[in-house]
Amino acid sequence: MTGNAGMRTVAIVPAAGVGARMGQDKALLDLGGVTAIERIVTTCHTAGVDEVIVVRRTDAAPIPDHLDALVVTTSGEGEMADSLRLAYLKVPRDAEAVLVFPVDHALVEADTVLALRAKLLRDDSAMALPLYRGKPGHPIAMTRTVFAEIDRDGALLSDVVRRDQDRVSVVATANPWVRADMDHPEDLRAARCALTGEPWNAVAQMYRHRSHRSFESGELPQAQIERLVDAARHASTSSFTQAYSVIAVRDPAIKADCARLCAGQQQINEAPVFFAICADLHKIAVACGKQGTAVQAQSLELSLQATIDAALLGQNLQLAGEAEGLGGCMIGAARNHPIEIAERLGLPKHCIVIFGMTMGVPKDDPIPRGRMPLQGVLHWDRYDEECIDDVLQAADDGMRAWAKQTNAERGGYAGRPVNETKGWAERMARMWGGDSQYAKAREVLADELTQLGFGLGS
Ligand SMILES: Cc1cc2nc3c(=O)[nH]c(=O)nc-3n(C[C@H](O)[C@H](O)[C@H](O)COP(=O)(O)O)c2cc1C
Repeated sequence: MTGNAGMRTVAIVPAAGVGARMGQDKALLDLGGVTAIERIVTTCHTAGVDEVIVVRRTDAAPIPDHLDALVVTTSGEGEMADSLRLAYLKVPRDAEAVLVFPVDHALVEADTVLALRAKLLRDDSAMALPLYRGKPGHPIAMTRTVFAEIDRDGALLSDVVRRDQDRVSVVATANPWVRADMDHPEDLRAARCALTGEPWNAVAQMYRHRSHRSFESGELPQAQIERLVDAARHASTSSFTQAYSVIAVRDPAIKADCARLCAGQQQINEAPVFFAICADLHKIAVACGKQGTAVQAQSLELSLQATIDAALLGQNLQLAGEAEGLGGCMIGAARNHPIEIAERLGLPKHCIVIFGMTMGVPKDDPIPRGRMPLQGVLHWDRYDEECIDDVLQAADDGMRAWAKQTNAERGGYAGRPVNETKGWAERMARMWGGDSQYAKAREVLADELTQLGFGLGS
């Protein structure tokens, strides 16, 4: 039966990847009691798609056999272009439209598919894709003629989309799953939260963290900045001292000066807001003055308290931003020139920028760095020194694997290729070993902080 008069449509579901980052076959992920592939096939049929072709690896586990779908197998690596070419051979002669529906987007609803098909019919467009927050996603519908370009010219799907923008129509959707890939276990957790209505919780958000260093243009609403900083400052604070302040820098000229003082990091110019997170004893100094006494600003203990409080606020702020779909990066380089940055931001005595933080709507999509094994961090009852060699080895392996993947899939990290041979231990030794440039660059830090009225003394 043809579901949409005059436009026989075939969906192709490339599902031949190994799901290495996810650690399991994505097509068979359990999404609310049904597998990802079952969801997609059902969605396609609900939206009137006539046939579904699923591409699988020859050695993959079988998909549920009740599914109304044709399975073709490949012994290849699961590259999307290869899967599409293979599936094309099976597209019936009379099919006029093809829908490419990667298995990552299993949470896309039938109404999106219907809208895409309608675009092809009504608007006389050759391609239609969903748009979430102005960014293109999947699945992508196209006429058979357009799809044939993948086969004929050896083009990738993305080439075909970009080739001629005039032939592409879009369907705006509020469903983020048109864009979200299902690559990591956290993505699966997010999908399950979305399906079950379970709230997305803080722990899941923490696992999602990555530093972002490139941002979309446009301001962040002032009310949002206020809300995030207000929430962040509800972190615990030593003896209720609240020894912190945040300067939200939005003025491009001041941001540019901050960027210059922070090793020229372009992300500070690009971000709509640069937070200078300050350890601030000024308010306590004024309070002491009003009480006829003087703050013991030289106290190492008080300085540590202020630094810890400011760091807790900063981490809360980053997490709060991430929970609202923003991203950013902490900036330790804000301690490169503590006196100059304090002057530029008009900081009073006893107040220093302890680190900075960019924040905005992320434009980059870095591969998460992961962390060393938990065994090297979490010890039970007593510090376990036994595991150190294994932990360092695993940290090295993890670093190299991440570098490799980052170079291959993102062309590098923070705009630069990453050395794929250096492990974590060698990096640490170079940074903080005998000849440390980092230590040298900060030799005057203690003196500068003292000049700012921030004690590191007794
Ligand atoms: C206090 C602090 C200062 C940092 N300073 C910088 C910085 O100046 N520039 C930068 O690009 N990243 C900076 N980072 C980000 C770290 O490089 C990053 O958190 C780390 O490599 C782990 O990567 P991830 O955050 O993506 O997991 C800083 C992080 C922290 C916690």
